[in-house]
Amino acid sequence: MQNLDAVKTKWLEAVAAAASAAALEEVRVKALGKSGEVSALMKGLGALSPDERREAGAKLNAVKDAVAAAIEARKAALQDAELDERLKTERVDVTLPARPEPEGRLHPISQTIDEIVAIFGSMGFRVAEGPDIEDDFHNFTALNIPPEHPARQMHDTFYVQGADGTGGPGGKLLRTHTSPVQIRTMKESKPPIRIIAPGRTYRVDSDMTHSPMFHQVEGLVVDETTHMGHLKGCLIEFCRAYFGVPDLKLRFRPSFFPFTEPSAEVDIGCSRKGGELKIGVGDDWLEILGCGMVHPKVLELSGIDPARYQGFAFGMGIERIAMLKYGIPDLRTFYEADLRWLKHYGFLPLDVPSMTSGLTR
Ligand code: DAH
Repeated sequence: MQNLDAVKTKWLEAVAAAASAAALEEVRVKALGKSGEVSALMKGLGALSPDERREAGAKLNAVKDAVAAAIEARKAALQDAELDERLKTERVDVTLPARPEPEGRLHPISQTIDEIVAIFGSMGFRVAEGPDIEDDFHNFTALNIPPEHPARQMHDTFYVQGADGTGGPGGKLLRTHTSPVQIRTMKESKPPIRIIAPGRTYRVDSDMTHSPMFHQVEGLVVDETTHMGHLKGCLIEFCRAYFGVPDLKLRFRPSFFPFTEPSAEVDIGCSRKGGELKIGVGDDWLEILGCGMVHPKVLELSGIDPARYQGFAFGMGIERIAMLKYGIPDLRTFYEADLRWLKHYGFLPLDVPSMTSGLTR
């Protein structure tokens, strides 16, 4: 019988030298496989005398066990090394700098409209739209502002084209408020109606506090049971959510609009101490919107039976409530497209306001 120690050493060295799972398997086959060296030696035992066989058999078994154990150990070591290698290449470098913030910003007007839509959306309102270029009927007549009505003078209107094609009353105009969307909605749909209509509006007016183009949001609710209590509850809810002041005080002050009866203007509680305006504290009042119960004539002119249906409406300036909430002091800066201003007052595009995740972050 050959020197079994030498056989053992040879295979242990081969195992240690195997650099991969495949190389190790090759060693295993050559040493312990069916026609491997150790198996061949086992077969050779039959030619020995019983005593020699017992001794050599025991030794050979020990060799076989030692080589098998070494193979197992080597296999585990190779697997560990392979895993280490993979972990190293797939490692995430947590020291890398965070991605830069996007450069673009949402304009405060867009943000404010998104917030208004989120709040009224949660109350079951849908968004309605109408054209910027309106006709006299929808902008005035159907809102109970007939020709020669003094309220027409309150709106310094941009006329686009007159009935005779020369420009002037009777033709197309740039809508002076979002109220014509009330008329279009009532003509197109049946009650119950619950809409808001944010959008651009236009008036011949330009100074520190007026821009010829500005934004309003209109609200309209029509059904069989709506009353002034619903109007109040709805607007109180809106103002408190929008300004984020849960106990914000509101005052409904009697007023006049041709398209509502009764009509009211809504003031919110504020303080002007030391020349600084603060909303939600103090004993002062600040006007923020107009509202009222839809005038029966308006319902009728829009094809809705005023004997059966009633509703409420409101209208609000978007720039104004954006300035109040975000502390923007000058109206004219809204339209200057100054990137530094936008960077300061604008909003990150993916911070979409909602009643559940918060209105502004
Ligand atoms: N349209 C009015 C304006 O531009 C605002 C307004 C007041 C709208 C009362 C309404 C309302 O719907 O009921 O000044």
